[in-house]
This record gives sequence, structure tokens and C-alpha cells, in this order.
Amino acid sequence: MTHTDSPKPVSASAVHNHVYKVFPNDLNAHYTVFGGLVMSLCDRVALVVSERHSGKVCVTASVDSFHFKAPAKDGDTLLISAAVNRTWSSSMEIGVRVEAENSFSGEVKHIVSAYFTFVALGPDNKPCNVPEIDPQTDAELRRYQGAQVRRDARLKTRENLNSMR
Ligand SMILES: CC(C)(COP(=O)(O)OP(=O)(O)OC[C@H]1O[C@@H](n2cnc3c(N)ncnc32)[C@H](O)[C@@H]1OP(=O)(O)O)[C@@H](O)C(=O)NCCC(=O)NCCS
Repeated sequence: MTHTDSPKPVSASAVHNHVYKVFPNDLNAHYTVFGGLVMSLCDRVALVVSERHSGKVCVTASVDSFHFKAPAKDGDTLLISAAVNRTWSSSMEIGVRVEAENSFSGEVKHIVSAYFTFVALGPDNKPCNVPEIDPQTDAELRRYQGAQVRRDARLKTRENLNSMR
């Protein structure tokens, strides 16, 4: 498969500070925010980014890493941001960052960084081409290069595991 459309800028599909207000039913037994809820929220926001970028139905293929850096708590306002880091033939890496804001004081904590791979599907439900990304800022370029390192490592790990079978 080869890319067919012109490259698109990251800004055309990115989501900035999607707001989710934490209520008591979002907490775990330790009274901090349930990690599975945060993962689900990230998956939904990243899905929207992949749909905007590709214009296709997309599915989550994998999550390379999901790092919980600090807990969020009752009453916090979660701010979820997501953007395409890089695309290949049919797959896209979407980077997601979650912050927890104390909306009274304005204090903001970094809660999560995660990398999702989504695959675009055609009408036949098979993987189909997606447009390339055109990184324009230093941060976008750094994420673009990092995404290739993560993909190479993922493919290498898969190859190593297959050779052990
Ligand atoms: C993701 C999926 C569409 C890939 O289909 P496939 O027939 O294995 O496709 P291919 O082997 O031809 O790979 C297609 C692309 O997917 C990528 N891919 C496949 N499995 C992957 C994985 N585990 N992690 C990351 N990327 C993956 C390939 O690298 C390839 O990317 P490229 O086209 O950009 O090079 C298929 O495995 C699937 O439908 N999975 C279930 C998805 C789903 O239901 N998600 C919601 C879970 S509840």
C-alpha cells in the first residue's frame, strides 16, 4: 500500500484539552480515579483524532505504552489532548496526554502519557491507506521521529517472539 492523499498537518485532527469532570463514581478503592476509566477516555479521544485524520472507520490495533505518572482525584478536571504522531500505510500512532486540573486553584498535574496505534479500514473492512502527516513544529517533529523508533521496536519484538515459536 502507498499513500495517496497529500500530507496533512497535525493541527487538522488534534484534540486539545477535552474536559472530563471527575465525580465520586469514577474512583477506585483507594479513592483515586480508576485507571481503566482514563484508558477508555483516551481511546475515545484518540479514535476521533484517527477518524479526522484518515476520514475512515478506524479500530484500535494496539497500545504501546500507557504510563500513569500521578493519580487524579475526586473533583479534578481531566484535560485530554491527542494528536497524530506519524502514519505508515494503514496505521497511525496517536499520542495522548492527560492532565488533572484543580479548577479552583488552576494547578495542573501531568497524569498520563500514552501511544495508541489505530488502523483505518475500507468499505471491505480491510486495512486501507491513510494520508501522511506533515510535522510543522519542533515538538511535532520530535514525536514524528519517536513514533518510528516505537514502531521499529514493536516490529522487532514481534519478530523475536515469532522466532521462539
Ligand atoms: C488491526 C487489524 C485491522 C489489522 O488487521 P491485519 O489483517 O492484521 O492487517 P495487516 O497485518 O495487514 O496490518 C495492517 C496494519 O496494521 C498494523 N498492525 C497490525 N497489528 C498491529 C498491532 N498489534 N499493533 C500495531 N499495529 C498493528 C500493521 O503494522 C499494518 O500497519 P501499516 O499498514 O501501516 O504498515 C486487525 O488485527 C483487527 O481488526 N483487530 C481488531 C481491532 C479491534 O477490534 N479493536 C477494538 C478492540 S475492542
